[in-house]
Formats: sequence, C-alpha cells, structure tokens
Amino acid sequence: MEPTASAAPATKEINNIETISITDNRTGKQYEIPIDNGTIKALDLRQIKVNSDDFGMMTYDPAFMNTASCKSRITFIDGDKGILRYRGHSIDDLAERCTYLEVAYLLLHGELPNKAQLEEWTNNITTHTFVHENIKKFMDGFHYDANPMGMLVSTLAALSTFYPSAKHINDPKERQLTIYRLIGKVPTLAAFAYRHSIGMPYVHPDNELSYAENFLSMMFKVAEPKYKPNPILAKALDVLFILHADHEQNCSANAMRGVGSSHVDPYSASAAAAAALYGPLHGGANAEVLYMLDLIGTKDKIPEFIRDVKDGKGKLMGFGHRIYKNYDPRAKIIKRLADQVFEVTGRNPKLDIALELERIALEDDYFIKRKLYPNVDFYSGLIYQAMKFPVDMFPVLFAIGRMSGWLAQWQEMLLDQEQKIARPRQVYLGHDQREVVSLSKRS
Ligand code: ACO
Repeated sequence: MEPTASAAPATKEINNIETISITDNRTGKQYEIPIDNGTIKALDLRQIKVNSDDFGMMTYDPAFMNTASCKSRITFIDGDKGILRYRGHSIDDLAERCTYLEVAYLLLHGELPNKAQLEEWTNNITTHTFVHENIKKFMDGFHYDANPMGMLVSTLAALSTFYPSAKHINDPKERQLTIYRLIGKVPTLAAFAYRHSIGMPYVHPDNELSYAENFLSMMFKVAEPKYKPNPILAKALDVLFILHADHEQNCSANAMRGVGSSHVDPYSASAAAAAALYGPLHGGANAEVLYMLDLIGTKDKIPEFIRDVKDGKGKLMGFGHRIYKNYDPRAKIIKRLADQVFEVTGRNPKLDIALELERIALEDDYFIKRKLYPNVDFYSGLIYQAMKFPVDMFPVLFAIGRMSGWLAQWQEMLLDQEQKIARPRQVYLGHDQREVVSLSKRS
C-alpha cells in the first residue's frame, strides 16, 4: 500500500537528539528515527517491518541521487551556490596562491604544508617519478594507436605487481610510500603512453623540474639537452591539476572507495578509479567537447545544434552536472586561464564557437529550467589543445590531477571505523524459483 499523506514525517527531539517520526500505514506503527547531520541511517529503517518474517524497509536510490555513502572532511561543494572548497579552502584561493603539490598535500593531510613539510613532500614525490624499466615493455605491447587512457588504466594496475607490499594497507608507512609512488609516477605513465602513441622514445623524468614542468618535458622533449617549458603554460597546467584534484564523491572517487573497500592494494583501486574516469559522462567529457565543437564547425550552425540537443539527439557536452546547479566555479577559473594560455599559444579558433554556444545555451529555456551550466570540461579541452595535447590525452590529464584526490578519499575510507566492504542491496524483480526445462523442450 502507498503511504498516505498523513504519514508525512514530522521531527521531534528525544534526549536532545533530533528525530523523525515515521508512521507505517501498513501496520499503523510509529518509529522514531534519529537525525544525524541532516541524514537518517538507512539501517535504522530496517526495523520497519510488516511482520517478523519481513526483511525490513530499505531505501531505493539508483545512481545515489540522495544517499551519502560516507562522512568526509576533504571536499565541500555547494552545488546551488557554485562553491568548491578543499579542506575549507576555496578553489579560487588555492588556484591563485598554491602549487598542485601543496594542494595534494592539503587533500591528504588536512592542512597546507609549512616550508619544511613541502620540501620533504616534494622531494619524496620527485624521487618516485621513475618507473621500472619493464613498464616500458608493457607500453611497447600496446598497439600504436591504443588510447592513452586505456594504457594508463592498465599500467596503473600493473604497478601493483611491481610493489606487492602495497597490499599492506593497514601499515601507515606502506600507505605513505604508495601515495608518493602513485602521485610521482602517474605523470610518467601518462607521458609514456603518449610517446608510445607517436612512436617517440620515452623521456625520463627530470627531477630538477617542477611537477608540471617535468610532465611537459616527458611529453614534448625532443633533442634539446634540457627541456625548458614555457612558465605560463607550466603554471596553467599546474592550476588545471589543482582544479581537477578532488570533487568529493564523484563517479571515480566512488570507484576508488568502493574497490578499495575490498582492501585491494591502492594501485589496483586507482586503476578502477581511472577506468571510471575514462567514461564520456565523466573524465571523457573534455574530449567529447572538442569533438562536439569540431562537429558544429562554424558559429552559424550553433542554433541547429542546440535544436538537436533539445530534441534529444545528443547532449551539449561540457554542460550540466549532478551537483552543480549553477556555474561550475572551476569553469570560471579555466575561462580566465584560457586568456593567459592563448596569449602564448595563439587563440584556439574553437573558443569563439564555445563562447557563442555558452551564450546561446544560457539564454535558452531548456537549459535554464534544468539548471545546466558549463562544467569544468567545457573550456579545459580548448586549453589542452592549444598546448598541443592530443584530444585522447585530455582524460589522462584529468587523471594526473585527480590522483591525489582518489588517494585522499581512499585513505579516509580505510581509516573510517564506520566503513566496511561496499556492498549495496537490490530490489529483486526477477523470476521466483523455477525448474530447468531440458534443452529439447525449450521454445
Ligand atoms: N545537454 C543536454 N541536456 C542535458 C545535459 C546536457 N549536457 N545534461 C543534462 N541534461 C538534461 C537531461 O536530458 C535531463 O532532461 P530531462 O529532465 O528532460 O530528462 C535533465 O537535464 C537532467 O539531467 P540528468 O541526466 O538527469 O542529470 P545527471 O545528474 O544524471 O547527469 C551529467 C549529470 C552526467 C554530468 C549530465 O549533465 C551530462 O551528461 N552532461 C554532459 C557530459 C559532461 O559534460 N560530463 C562532465 C561532467 S563534470 C565531470 O565529470 C568532471
């Protein structure tokens, strides 16, 4: 029976604990469920039963639209106001005043590092940028046109075979070592994947360069004895890593936590997270934006494209977000960053199409009603392309920045006494028990 309007819950306070009263209209019984941080525990609903044989009430929430799967102190988002903070610091402030490695430290340790801590942290990450020579053999095994994100996912997983002691996840020293290694090696794997795809020799890390500079060197160094990246481009890349570093319980962080909850080693868990990021609805969206801009081609084709989107013939990629119902604060920063980058590289001609697309979409009822605004991916691809990154590398760049966030989420999950192996329930709608019909009698 459907609950009636009279069953609408009311709140009370018992022993200073706020509660919600639920009346089960099937039985007339009333339940007092404690409220904690604006949530009720799904398990508290289990006591709501029709009779003692009843399993008890569950919640049904496909795609976790309204379910908090953890308590976290890492990242705060107010999607309606367009606010993003890491450990309490606004994303604007961090992008303006910190480097990516400071932000990675902040995500993992809860506080920004002091000078000595930053030196030690940077040194530890820098000395873990090299990969085992056999990793090159893995890379060589991929087809020449293999997608670099597929190569990254696979080689991240392969790292676990080189560092089997990483499975000792309850040892803080092992965890720390793996954190250094993963943050240090992910740019190396990413750059090697690119070099393989263009048939160029791999470039070893240069430990005298900063994190972003070293990545550019491993990507683009040719015959020069020392690669000197343009400082504006290196800074822009560093900021892009900051903007992508964490985003609370997104699809890939959820994968990292979910897979990590089986207590597998963090290399395997981060390969799973990277695989989640590969999808076009998540980290793959920045590449899709570029394909979309190519498809539109010229500004005069925009109205027709928008009409098609509204008719359900595709999505406006780089628009919309599960959490942001306002302008994504990262997109604002990236828009500003684009101007600085284009001063060095020359303007990406697709920018005009993107700006016009945004203008038209933001004035259109379809997008206004659904609160669809540009997200982080709408402009990031234009910058990457201007910096000469091929489109296939865009999700890989996202993964480099996001590694610190995945690790922070993973470690928080491991240390959280309330967490267990992630294992959702289901509502079973299939057949009741039935017998196998022999093959000759099946229709
Ligand atoms: N273009 C056109 N319509 C859209 C778009 C879009 N980009 N995004 C959402 N909508 C529409 C949906 O069709 C739906 O319309 P309806 O109510 O008429 O059915 C409504 O807006 C709500 O959208 P949902 O799909 O229910 O929203 P959800 O929270 O599930 O999806 C998502 C969020 C996946 C990001 C979606 O907006 C999307 O696919 N955007 C394009 C891909 C993209 O840019 N992804 C990057 C996200 S940011 C990141 O991962 C870093």
